[in-house]
Amino acid sequence: MSRTSTVTLPPTSGIHVGIIMDGNGRWAASRGLPRSAGHHAGVRTARAIVESAVRAGIGTLTLYAFSSDNWSRPTPEVNALMRLLRRSLHTESKRCLENGVRLTIVGRRDRLPAALRAAIADAEAVTARCRNLHLRVAIDYSSRDGILLAAERYAQQIARGVGPDSLTREHFGELLAEVHHDPRPVRDVDLLIRTGGEQRLSDFMLWECAYAELYFTSAMWPEFGEDELRQALRTFESRERRFGGVPAQAAS
Ligand code: FPP
Repeated sequence: MSRTSTVTLPPTSGIHVGIIMDGNGRWAASRGLPRSAGHHAGVRTARAIVESAVRAGIGTLTLYAFSSDNWSRPTPEVNALMRLLRRSLHTESKRCLENGVRLTIVGRRDRLPAALRAAIADAEAVTARCRNLHLRVAIDYSSRDGILLAAERYAQQIARGVGPDSLTREHFGELLAEVHHDPRPVRDVDLLIRTGGEQRLSDFMLWECAYAELYFTSAMWPEFGEDELRQALRTFESRERRFGGVPAQAAS
């Protein structure tokens, strides 16, 4: 006899949340601290938000840690960020394992220091079987570069005789996942959060955010906590997502 579950999941259960973690530098400067102190505080916030995301039942969380344009920052800051990311992956992968969080890294790998590449491989292997949350950290990530690369791969497939009618959104999503080193395509972003007061996408998941709800907050990333995440989720729940259709009332 089959039994039907009576558990009602909240509307945010299993959703994909992307976060542009902005404001580390300004948070530090406003306290008379070096920018590196802001990045260290940013790692602590990321850790707390991952644990909050598990509690909130979020399915996928993508954090923008280092954009391909961030290479233009002063070399000492770039080097310090690379070291911080390597150390964080090392320590956080253990916490991820304890919390059932699968950790994968999206973005280019060929320009990263070898030690960071090794830390990525290790973190991904250690957490591969975790299922409570899929945490994706974007490092050396450019959405536009990814789209260009995926288009190039598709052109190569056409040249090898793949029919042009194979260019579906699903197929393009698979090519995009491949170029960003994603194990497989993720669901579209449901909610995109940006801290730090700016209101722009900064080349982050442009394809996946086609129908994302956008949430901007003036809180600097190190100040963002579980209460702010809950507030963003409540705002998300209050929005009517129409995906190009008409309001539910008009449709009935
Ligand atoms: C933005 O602050 C943040 C970054 C450039 C990314 C670095 C983020 C971390 C180190 C925290 C997350 C870490 C992990 C492991 C997921 P900013 O420097 O752009 O700040 P500003 O706009 O105030 O200058």
